Amino acid sequence: MAQHRVVFDFQIDFSNGGGLKGHDFRLDIDGDDIDDAGLADYIVRDMRLLMVGAVRILDKRIIVEPHKRPRIAPVEIDAEAEALLASAGLPTTDLALSPLRLFGSRRNGVLQGVVGIEGYGSDALLRSLAVAADSRGQGIGRELVEHVESIAQDAGVRRLFLLTTDATAYFNRHGYVETPRGSAPPAVVATAQFASLCPASATLMSKALVLPKDAPSIPADATS
Ligand SMILES: CC(C)(COP(=O)(O)OP(=O)(O)OC[C@H]1O[C@@H](n2cnc3c(N)ncnc32)[C@H](O)[C@@H]1OP(=O)(O)O)[C@@H](O)C(=O)NCCC(=O)NCCS
Repeated sequence: MAQHRVVFDFQIDFSNGGGLKGHDFRLDIDGDDIDDAGLADYIVRDMRLLMVGAVRILDKRIIVEPHKRPRIAPVEIDAEAEALLASAGLPTTDLALSPLRLFGSRRNGVLQGVVGIEGYGSDALLRSLAVAADSRGQGIGRELVEHVESIAQDAGVRRLFLLTTDATAYFNRHGYVETPRGSAPPAVVATAQFASLCPASATLMSKALVLPKDAPSIPADATS
C-alpha cells in the first residue's frame, strides 16, 4: 500500500513570547490525510515543544512517498509510555530501575504500542508489551514482539523469557512455551518483575532463539 507524507509550513507562537517558523516540513502520516488540528498536535509532540500558544499550519500538501522513519523505534521511558503500560494493566514502578530498553510504534506521533527487553547475557526478559486498546488486532503486537526478538538475536541472546497473567495463548502463537519457574536462569529470577511485580500465578514462558551464524560473543549487558 502506498505510504503518504505531509508537506507543510508552520508558525508556532509560544505562550511565553517568541515563535518558531518551519518551511517545507515533511512528516510520515498513517493513511492518506491528516487534518490541521491533528498535524498541529503531531508537530508539537514530535518536536517536544513546551508552552505552545497557537499553531498555524500553512500550505499543507499530501504526497505519496515512502516513510522515512522506521515503524518501530526506541522510545523513552516517559509519561506517555507509562500511561500506555498502565492503561494495559502492566507494571510501571520498576521501569527506571531495570536495565530496560523500550521500543514503540507511533501513529501520527502518538504511541500506539510498546515493548521492552532486559538483557542478561545470553538470556533476556521480554516485558511491557502493550498496545493501545483502540489499536489492537492490527498486528502491532506481533511487529513489536518480532522487533525485540531480532534485537535480541543480533545481541547473541539465546533464550527469551517473559511473564504473563493472561496472554499465554497470545505468546503461544509466537512460539513461546510455558516453562517451569524453577528452570529460569538466576538473573531472570532476580528481576524486579519476576521477584515481585507480577503475581505468583503469572506464567513463565520462554522461546529459544536461533543464533545468526556470525553472532558476536555476548557481553553481560549486551541488550541493556
Ligand atoms: C496482547 C496485546 C499486546 C496484543 O496486541 P495486538 O496488537 O492486538 O496483537 P496482534 O494484532 O499482533 O494480534 C491480535 C490477535 O491476538 C489475539 N490476542 C490478543 N490478546 C490476546 C490474549 N491476551 N490472549 C490470546 N490472544 C490474544 C487477538 O484476539 C487477535 O487474534 P486474531 O488474529 O485471531 O484476530 C494487547 O492485547 C495488549 O496490550 N494486552 C494487554 C497487555 C498484555 O497482556 N500484555 C502482554 C503481557 S506482557
